Amino acid sequence: MFGFGTTNSLTMDKPHPHSLLDTGVQGSISRPFDRVDGPKKVSGAATYAAEYAFDHLAYGFLVSARIGAGKVVSIDAEAVRSLPGVIDVVTDFDRFVRVSGQGGETKAPTQGVKDIAFMGEIVAIVVAESYEAARDAALQLPVAYEAGEGAYGFEAHRAEAYSPPDGVTPSHFAQGDVDRAMAEAPVTVDVTYITPSQNSAAMEPHASTAVWEEDGSLTLYGAYQMPTSDASQLAKSLGLSAKKVRIISRYIGGGFGSKLGVAPESVAAAIAAKQVGRPVKAVMARQQVFEATVRRSNTEQHMRLAATRDGRLTAIGQESLVSNQPGEDFFEPVGIGTHMLYAGENRLISHRQIPLNLVLSGSMRAPGEAVGMIGLECAMDELAETLGLDPIELRKINDTSLDPEKNVPFSSRSLTAALDEGAERFGWAKRGLPGARREGEWLIGMGMASAVRGNMLMESSAKVELHADGSATVSSAMTDIGTGSYTILAQIASEILGIPVDRIGMALGDTHDPPAAGSGGSWGAGSAGSAVYLACEMLQRKLAKAMGVDEEALTLKDGMAIAANRSIPIGELVGQGFEAIGHIKPGKQEKETSQASFGAHFAEVGVNAVTGEVRVRRMLGVFAAGRVLNAKTARSQCLGGMTFGIGTALTEELYHDARNGKLVNRDLAEYHVPVNADVPQLEVHFLPERDIHANPIHAKGIGELGISGAGAAVANAIYNACAVRVRDFPVTLDKLL
Ligand code: MOS
Repeated sequence: MFGFGTTNSLTMDKPHPHSLLDTGVQGSISRPFDRVDGPKKVSGAATYAAEYAFDHLAYGFLVSARIGAGKVVSIDAEAVRSLPGVIDVVTDFDRFVRVSGQGGETKAPTQGVKDIAFMGEIVAIVVAESYEAARDAALQLPVAYEAGEGAYGFEAHRAEAYSPPDGVTPSHFAQGDVDRAMAEAPVTVDVTYITPSQNSAAMEPHASTAVWEEDGSLTLYGAYQMPTSDASQLAKSLGLSAKKVRIISRYIGGGFGSKLGVAPESVAAAIAAKQVGRPVKAVMARQQVFEATVRRSNTEQHMRLAATRDGRLTAIGQESLVSNQPGEDFFEPVGIGTHMLYAGENRLISHRQIPLNLVLSGSMRAPGEAVGMIGLECAMDELAETLGLDPIELRKINDTSLDPEKNVPFSSRSLTAALDEGAERFGWAKRGLPGARREGEWLIGMGMASAVRGNMLMESSAKVELHADGSATVSSAMTDIGTGSYTILAQIASEILGIPVDRIGMALGDTHDPPAAGSGGSWGAGSAGSAVYLACEMLQRKLAKAMGVDEEALTLKDGMAIAANRSIPIGELVGQGFEAIGHIKPGKQEKETSQASFGAHFAEVGVNAVTGEVRVRRMLGVFAAGRVLNAKTARSQCLGGMTFGIGTALTEELYHDARNGKLVNRDLAEYHVPVNADVPQLEVHFLPERDIHANPIHAKGIGELGISGAGAAVANAIYNACAVRVRDFPVTLDKLL
């Protein structure tokens, strides 16, 4: 898969102390460059998932099951075939595979009668000459069902909870005896936190256009976070060899996990295009995005903390219960941050799952930490109060330089520094006792929480070409999901090659380019960025050779190669052009160090003493995530994460109808993500840090750090404002009165 000619390959078996980015000669790295793709996006020239145009294009509209469990008995395609514009109805619905939210697992197509596992499952696609005609016919398509018995209630099916099979994250961790430590400790907290199902609610609905070539190969144009693995998943579901499937995903209007794996519209478009012999575009309606992609599981977290009088944790327990469809492998990894955030000898971190016929559970921004840190960081706030300790002090006392479960050092960890810096910048010293500060009708409070998100390196490659005109091109199956990948990868190439950013051409999101892990789990920048780095390192060596000097003697700046009193335009040195592939993969460093980004969240809220309304007044996040590759896009990632945190704390909740699992609120009018009026001034501050164990660019993940802990900081501020502790999220006003 990674077999390209001139490849500079690195396995992270050892620390990589030297980074070519350290010199900063070109001055591109870390600068707050505007997005290189920005002008295309704001002028409408960037092609988003639903915007690819083809001759003879036909439009597909998906048909969603209207029962929560059971079977499809028949679909009367003839009833809609004569409607205006209808081309065909694809009803061999048993071929629509169900795909796991993690993107890795694909269920084999069922044979014969299609079982329905949840309301909204896709059972057919109607193809027509226009989107409107397809939708009209799809909504009229008669589908006969045989209703079966489904499991819809979390409470009602509690007894069926099971633990993850071996090898499935999240792993169970038990050490010492939490029960005993709880019984013996002078100070304990034993509470249960609840978080609801959530939806990624990306602005761009899922959409795919399928085009079959004469040779039997297939191209899918759409929005895919991980084109390389998505193409194999798609190939597998269609019974094709992976080489026959190409994915093109140039611009993505938000994914947040919902586009990590292949969604049903992709497979449906492919099958329909084959059947009608024309390119087919399938765009999900907003309601279908909510019903038929993935949700974040609801969670119930039994938190137990035990501490000595001076605040040293002696036990940490986080036993969580989540839900997913029967037979699914994906578990919301609630305790993933708890494994490494604080020291404490006795530990129990476990997960169990209740099988329910609800929307599939999958990854949503910071799977694990985004909700697991609600339980942990709110319980820590409760513990601090019980101890009479400042919540920041409690966290600092339990900071650790060794991973408390793996017993290896952290590759880099700036938790205490972030807590201190945040306290200073936020004015934490002015925080009063719960319920003590009032301005008119408003009770004002401050809260904080730690932030942690694991850092991952994923096998990735990229090609960099130097051209005779002095420009360069970067290409990779890496994606930009709105995060800034186009820009930071151009900055990395620019910095090492000494070519201005505006002379670096970028091509991302095509599986015909070198394979990459794409965008997910906050690994994108570190992984694809390292691949670009390695390609450029090789090109730098080639340029030194062309100059007849050692690499150390060569300076590349502003398009010139400078050495030994000579200065030659890079374009002249490369003749017909140079190219190199960079390739990175994880190695022993992953086991020898524990890797995560850390930070601290601070929030100030007002709670209306009459209505219970909560307004966030200001927030500050202080983060340390290794090298910041672009100060502007990194900040934007954190602002987005903190905004998600406000949603988690105050507004976001999916309601499942207890009778049939139907999503009651399945659009952006009913599922409340924070809007501008809900989001006050947010401040983001980065601490300088380098991580030589993570990768050669010394950067760690940033995309999910901003959400991890943010909701807990808001909830803790609510408690400080009004002295009401709500453990059932979101914290809506009815729960405060
Ligand atoms: Mo993320 S939930 O891995 O896009």
